Amino acid sequence: MNQMVLNRAIELIKPCPGLFDHAQDVARLVFNVAGTLGLDTSTLKTAALVHDVGKCTWPKELHIRYPLQPEDLKIIRTHPVIGEKILCDLWPDIPKKIRELVRWHHERPGGLGYPDQLHNPSIEVLVLASCDVFSAITSDRPYRVGTFPISEALMEVAKFAPPQIVAALADAVLKRCVNY
Ligand SMILES: [Fe+2]
Ligand SMILES: [Fe+2]
Repeated sequence: MNQMVLNRAIELIKPCPGLFDHAQDVARLVFNVAGTLGLDTSTLKTAALVHDVGKCTWPKELHIRYPLQPEDLKIIRTHPVIGEKILCDLWPDIPKKIRELVRWHHERPGGLGYPDQLHNPSIEVLVLASCDVFSAITSDRPYRVGTFPISEALMEVAKFAPPQIVAALADAVLKRCVNY
């Protein structure tokens, strides 16, 4: 990724509570899982770093409100599309793969995700989605006390991800502290 674009996207993410730590955690996991599965580590890692950039448009309190209100969900569910738009504005010739990964990181097989209800998200999309969920439910968040134990978090991921991703993620978790 164009380094200036990446820096600008990170500037947008940094003021949001917990968001940059989350982006870095997801990027580390994604890099390891993608490597194990023989996927394009560079594209996936870049997409992971900026996948939630659309959240920078949220009102501050939405980052920390718990529990969420039904009307919050409407705003929350727009962040993949807003993130895609922000990145396209910053980077007009953004690679299609990165753009799609950001737009589709909340898609789930069977049309159960958003924003496009894809029936068969690609393996790359599912790698990012898996690492995203795993990071979210195993990390401390500003609004939540307590997290999922690793084994339960992997079971959550296994509800939508194929076994090879779950196995690679379990392996990546062991290497979580290793630099990429
Ligand atoms: Fe997200
Ligand atoms: Fe995320």
